[in-house]
Amino acid sequence: MSKQVTVAVKRQDTQTSGSRWETFSIPYEPGLNVTTILQRIAANPVTVEGESSTPVAFDACCLEEVCGACTMRVNGRVRQACTALVDNLLAEQPDRITLEPMTKFPVVRDLHVDRSAMFESLKRVHAWITADGYFDRGAAPRMSQDAQEDAYPLTTCMTCGCCVESCPQFNDGSSFIGPAAISQAVLFNEHPVGKFDANARMEVLAGDGGIADCGNAQNCLKVCPKNIPLTQSLAKAGRAATKYVISRFLQK
Ligand code: SF4
Ligand code: SF4
Ligand code: FES
Repeated sequence: MSKQVTVAVKRQDTQTSGSRWETFSIPYEPGLNVTTILQRIAANPVTVEGESSTPVAFDACCLEEVCGACTMRVNGRVRQACTALVDNLLAEQPDRITLEPMTKFPVVRDLHVDRSAMFESLKRVHAWITADGYFDRGAAPRMSQDAQEDAYPLTTCMTCGCCVESCPQFNDGSSFIGPAAISQAVLFNEHPVGKFDANARMEVLAGDGGIADCGNAQNCLKVCPKNIPLTQSLAKAGRAATKYVISRFLQK
């Protein structure tokens, strides 16, 4: 008999319904990833007990770890389904692969969660450069090579949610904006055009739910799939917030 891969999936029909586990058995193929496994289940949604089920809902877009949409807990660790290779997962946990939705976001259905909280945090910190019209304003200010190299890793953030999933301070009871939004605020505050809106970002970083809520556990750094130097961003944000609060006090 050909080799089979056992996959246990945590299912949930609606945001408010309870969850249940279903187990599927998929024929092994070299090069399989979790997204392909979910597609195989969708093509034949029958559990190992022979019960007829439904395709597992999940989110995906780029299929190459750029959009962050397919983020879920695979074998208990938060990561992207599209780059989670079955061979590596079986080496970690040979008997089965487990798939669960992230725990810090509302479940839409099955493995699909609503990451709006992260996008709301990006809105709060004004994580963009204001374009006041689209007329020709001449050349933009130049950034030094060193500044570009410092900024580049921060631009690779895909708002996937791995960092906030691992962060003990990001939870239902807190207004903490989380490490990804803080890192984006640092990115735009250091940009030669973005820095014109720096004070608006500093009001958020220095306010409720801002950098003071970070407990410095550094879990976020360990799970970021893009290896973004989050603790450097958090330290920069902390120093900038202290300076901002002092200068605001002195201006009174
Ligand atoms: S900082 Fe890293 S872990 Fe957090 S959302 Fe961005 S890419 Fe994902
Ligand atoms: S260092 Fe701060 S943001 Fe990162 S996981 Fe810890 S508390 Fe959360
Ligand atoms: S589908 Fe875009 S990161 Fe996986």
